[in-house]
Amino acid sequence: MDEQRLKKLMQHYPTVADLRRRAQGRIPHVAWEYLETGTGDERGVSRNLEKMSEVTLLPRFMKGELKPDPSTTLLGRQYRVPFGVSPMGLSGLIWPRAELILARTAARYGFPYCMSTVATQTPETVGPLVGEMGWFQLYPPRERHVRADILRRAREAGFHTLVVTADVPVGSRRERTIRAGLRMPPVIGPRFVWEALCHPSWTLCTLQEGLPSLRTLEKYASSRGWKDVIAFVAHHVGGTLSWEYLKEVRQEWSGALVIKGLIHPADVAPALEASVDAIQVSNHGARQFDGTPSAIEALPAMVKEIGGRVPVLFDSGIRTGLDILRVLALGADFVFLGRAFLYAVAALGEEGGDLLAENLLVDLNANLVNLGCATLADIERLAPPQ
Ligand SMILES: Cc1cc2nc3c(=O)[nH]c(=O)nc-3n(C[C@H](O)[C@H](O)[C@H](O)COP(=O)(O)O)c2cc1C
Repeated sequence: MDEQRLKKLMQHYPTVADLRRRAQGRIPHVAWEYLETGTGDERGVSRNLEKMSEVTLLPRFMKGELKPDPSTTLLGRQYRVPFGVSPMGLSGLIWPRAELILARTAARYGFPYCMSTVATQTPETVGPLVGEMGWFQLYPPRERHVRADILRRAREAGFHTLVVTADVPVGSRRERTIRAGLRMPPVIGPRFVWEALCHPSWTLCTLQEGLPSLRTLEKYASSRGWKDVIAFVAHHVGGTLSWEYLKEVRQEWSGALVIKGLIHPADVAPALEASVDAIQVSNHGARQFDGTPSAIEALPAMVKEIGGRVPVLFDSGIRTGLDILRVLALGADFVFLGRAFLYAVAALGEEGGDLLAENLLVDLNANLVNLGCATLADIERLAPPQ
């Protein structure tokens, strides 16, 4: 995208809230509900956002001209910013080729794109686009040979960091998606046709790309048909994760290993015993269990327990550059955003990923300087509760 165009888009959509508004109008209701949903009463989603906004930071002044540099090193690699794209399954339902769009943005801006096991693309198609910025997320397959094959494919496609998601011991009900009639495969009835007619850009792109399917997993199902792939996921993926299983993954994966979704300090010791390289504090964007504290409330105790032994990563509830700084001030080393990136792609298609990356970067730099910092190392850590 040329600079002029980017500037124009930044004027029209300076915040995630602007992108979210436009996204809602551009995609079918069922896709919107899948993207937005929490679970149960959905208090967790608003709690994540509210508690995040309550974190305040004390700026320092009189430091002369500060040139912000938000670059950082994580797990032995250099990143230009301390944020990345969290894994999101079925992204192609939100916008066709969403994974490819975000992988390209990540490569361009020098931050990680984490591809989900239940992506609508394969590691083989995403890998060459994401280059050095590829992370891969694993939902645990029951069969060891399937796991080994998925890990092999991810590694051969260039993904260097593996994220094992801990916080999905069982599928979530996500009542909003039930109400909206989310079915796999999609039921092509009058409601679907009406929605398709009302969202022509989404429909056109979907016709070009084909209906979304879980392409990474297709090869393990008895056929590539939707029913068989969904049946495979239901019976052979997830529900198997234990510390023993994680240790097996550790044996098989020689790259960096991250465990995602821990929120209880008592889970830190076994994670470290399983030799993970980083812990990602998260409540899955409150999509799994509505009873958790917000992720940001849980962070200080996790940081204290981890005690600097491995980097602390974080997601759930980040929407702005300031939010990123809030999380870093509370002791995390790196953060990820989920919904915000899909709002951006749903709102602006191919241009969405870059626009959000640019907005976050500008906002992050401005807030860094307002805080009185030039680099991330200058951020004064908020004291953890005693
Ligand atoms: C549409 C959608 C799909 C998701 N799919 C996955 C997934 O496949 N694997 C995973 O570990 N987390 C998944 N998540 C959770 C995100 O990785 C992340 O934890 C969460 O979105 C962060 O909260 P935020 O949306 O407030 O940024 C998904 C989230 C969304 C919104």
